Amino acid sequence: MRRNLLHVWYKELSYEIREIVAIAKEVEKYWREIVWENVWDPVIKWEKIPSRMKEIVKNALDKNEVYAYSPTKWLDATREYLAKKNWKITKEDIIFFNWLWEAINKTYWYLAFSARVIWPNPAYPTHSSAEATNSGSEHITYTLDPNNDWNPDVEEIENKVKYNPNVAWILVINPHNPTWAVFKREVLEKIIDIARRYKLFVIFDEIYEKLVYEEKDRVLLRDIIWEVPWISMKWISKELPWPGWRCGRIEVYNSDKDENFAKYINSILSSKMLEVCSTTLPQYVIPEIYEKEEFKEYLKNRIEKYKQKAEIANKYLWDLDNVLFVKPKWAFYLAIKFDLSRFNLEYTPEIKEENLKKFLEEKTKNKRFDKKFCYYMIAKNGICTVPLSWFNSTFDWFRMTILEEDLEKFEYILKNIREFIIEYRK
Ligand SMILES: Cc1ncc(COP(=O)(O)O)c(C=O)c1O
Repeated sequence: MRRNLLHVWYKELSYEIREIVAIAKEVEKYWREIVWENVWDPVIKWEKIPSRMKEIVKNALDKNEVYAYSPTKWLDATREYLAKKNWKITKEDIIFFNWLWEAINKTYWYLAFSARVIWPNPAYPTHSSAEATNSGSEHITYTLDPNNDWNPDVEEIENKVKYNPNVAWILVINPHNPTWAVFKREVLEKIIDIARRYKLFVIFDEIYEKLVYEEKDRVLLRDIIWEVPWISMKWISKELPWPGWRCGRIEVYNSDKDENFAKYINSILSSKMLEVCSTTLPQYVIPEIYEKEEFKEYLKNRIEKYKQKAEIANKYLWDLDNVLFVKPKWAFYLAIKFDLSRFNLEYTPEIKEENLKKFLEEKTKNKRFDKKFCYYMIAKNGICTVPLSWFNSTFDWFRMTILEEDLEKFEYILKNIREFIIEYRK
């Protein structure tokens, strides 16, 4: 070939949540039943879509206009509805996307290559790979401190911002995936203060905002921000729940405060025009669904259930001395961080089937410990979780969902995980 076709970051494109499925499928040939704790899909797991929500969608399907193109920023009525709930913006500050993947990518693609984003370690990989791919340079990250309920290390942010003039944005994911932390108000305020003093923009991914267990913990960026220009990302796949419809939006704040920022937002909009518009149906039904009492009740019940399961998980995990477990503060996952100094890293669980043993040896060769742990856990007890070092993280750890509806089964899963962790203890 005349030219190398590969982008410098092509190796960065991985999605372990799905990749581990191939491993589990292989193990399934030897196992009775895999317990799928790797991916959050409540609909597959147990959640029944509220019947009113289905009715609203069915009724919408009878309307001609849901089959039509929509305006680029999206339907006026929906944007007006959302803006009315939020006194800091007008409908012009809302842009809809086909899923947030599109929003995330467009947000980074239309940044100048040298305008870097500092983002959390660990971070949701869609953000980090999009940003790194756009800039073609090393990641710039700040640490979330496991010993401070996973709150961001504000001092580190300030130092990196100060000594790296290319940093133009701070990304905050709050509530945070994959730590299940909700950041403290004072920490968020300090981050905004850094943005203000160094003239940075901020992006907040607030996709999980409606799923925080305790109202007092729920601090939205719009509650604490003042003149800094920023973007908030929101979408429907978690709260409705409607993950199968790829639909999200960004809200733009204070674009009038900075000409350069306003032009940048305009470039995102122009790129959106090239695409014409986003899918019409989900956004058409959003106002009606959100307004239904049944939906509000449904959301409340879900949160209660997840909260109860976080308590059960705590019972099984809090006292283990070779891992760090911070009780989740919002729905539907938990994370367990290994203290590698207390793990026997040479240990390999016994696998009786020769072919499976070889397969696992091959797949875990020269790989991080958390990968080895998760792959062998599938082989040992059929529980499929996700290694988390892949979340652009310097830690070795893993995550599981807390979706399991059958509490007896949920306890069985936790008990097995607990025993597997103990098996590895030094
Ligand atoms: C912080 C964050 N942003 C965006 C997304 C994308 O959401 P989805 O693809 O499930 O709609 C996720 C999904 O887990 C996430 O955790």
